Amino acid sequence: MAETSENLSAGVLLTFEGIEGCGKSTQIALLAERLRKLEHKVVVSREPGATRLGEHLRELLLDPNHDPDALTELLLYLADRREHCRRVIGPALKRGEIVLLDRFIDSTWVYQGFAATAAGVGAAVALENIEMLNRLVVGAYWPRLTFLLDCPAEIGLKRARQRNLETAAVGVADRFERRQLKFHEQVRAGFLHLAAVAKERFSVLDAARPPAELHNAVWQEFSRRILQLEQVE
Ligand code: TMP
Repeated sequence: MAETSENLSAGVLLTFEGIEGCGKSTQIALLAERLRKLEHKVVVSREPGATRLGEHLRELLLDPNHDPDALTELLLYLADRREHCRRVIGPALKRGEIVLLDRFIDSTWVYQGFAATAAGVGAAVALENIEMLNRLVVGAYWPRLTFLLDCPAEIGLKRARQRNLETAAVGVADRFERRQLKFHEQVRAGFLHLAAVAKERFSVLDAARPPAELHNAVWQEFSRRILQLEQVE
């Protein structure tokens, strides 16, 4: 069946989740490019840091000189998210656009909840409280589809380190990348747990493969679940 834009008259919210170095930003860029070629209006955004207030919050959150506990961290991420919903996500959906997010509600549940609890990072926040606060903050802006780009922690961390070497951040790994491999394994386990619980929302894809191959898998899923096409070339 041909690729078409007919089935997408209303806005749609899609999220990409996964451990560091799983390839989210590359896959979002590839999907956005393909959709734009088909003349869809696409908004690409990320958390934390997509608004002016959010930029400040991101700086604080990723600064290794601060060491907030899990609850403080959670509240900062939620403040960033609220602002993001109000100023970016909500308006784009109202305009009928496709919103692609690099991290959203599931990252909070996993990083500040599941993995923080498992690793004993600060005072743990009960998972049901995170879920409740996430719902309060995002309201109606719940993702229609979430791609979990899944790969082993060693592969993701290796790619993330490589990326830091190639960008300005030489030698300055952010607070998260300094954490042990074990923490990233917990993060991966947390995402897989969420995906198993909310099967209808998640699509779990093997992210250890080359970007072009992974993009084809993303596109197949997007076509089937969002454009509702049975078959694509
Ligand atoms: P990034 O490197 O994908 O931009 O993400 C920045 C870091 O923020 C990443 O290590 C995960 C972390 N994070 C949380 O801990 N909780 C959240 O709610 C979000 C959105 C990100």
